[in-house]
Amino acid sequence: MRVLTLLSSLCLLTTILLSNFLCNGSNQHFSCIETEKNALLKFKQDLEDHLNRLSSWEDEEDCCKWNGVVCDNLAGHVHEIHLRGFDSIGYHQIPTAADLEEILRFKLGGKINPSLLNLKHLKYLDLSNNNFKGIQFPSFIGSLSSLTYLNLSRSGFEGTFPPQLGNLSMIRYLSLGGFSEDKKVSVENLK
Ligand SMILES: *[C@@H]1O[C@H](CO)[C@@H](O)[C@H](O)[C@H]1NC(C)=O
Ligand SMILES: *[C@@H]1O[C@H](CO)[C@@H](O)[C@H](O)[C@H]1NC(C)=O
Ligand SMILES: *[C@@H]1O[C@H](CO)[C@@H](O)[C@H](O)[C@H]1NC(C)=O
Repeated sequence: MRVLTLLSSLCLLTTILLSNFLCNGSNQHFSCIETEKNALLKFKQDLEDHLNRLSSWEDEEDCCKWNGVVCDNLAGHVHEIHLRGFDSIGYHQIPTAADLEEILRFKLGGKINPSLLNLKHLKYLDLSNNNFKGIQFPSFIGSLSSLTYLNLSRSGFEGTFPPQLGNLSMIRYLSLGGFSEDKKVSVENLK
């Protein structure tokens, strides 16, 4: 009798452990990879984010659930970053000074940390319509070799396009135009 009880409790214990293990195992596919999470956190550190658009980047454990971040479901790699700013489209009346102020505050600024290079599977990067206030194009972006979509247009980058952009061999959509209205950007370098 005691053997039977022991056996059945062992059985129960095994089931619990196994299901726990299986559950956590499959969960792990959907949660982000530690090195990629750290890369994103470094990237965030260098950004100015007045309206706290990236607040989920601290509150939420799983970086695949962060605002603007899309991961691949199977391996959990970060595939896409969607951090486009607002423009005035969608206003039905002429925006007030307060609206414009809000739009401006919604824009991200600061610097682009090269930690993005640790996102080896990054395919999609949209930082358009932000306000990087005339900083140089980050040339390391040319080394994000998996990129198929890159949009840095209307985000206040200045200077010449780095020749390294020619290294983006997978790129399908590249949008860099329309910086600030009164500044000239040279396209001579782009092959
Ligand atoms: C499985 O995950 C749960 C909740 O996330 C945790 O409490 C538990 O300790 C984990 N079990 C194993 C075997 O890792
Ligand atoms: C790039 O971003 C701008 C501004 O957000 C947008 O108008 C444009 O359609 C985007 N380009 C592509 C190719 O998606
Ligand atoms: C990228 O391009 C530059 C200049 O065009 C070249 O010198 C460099 O070796 C390339 N880097 C990679 C990682 O392909």
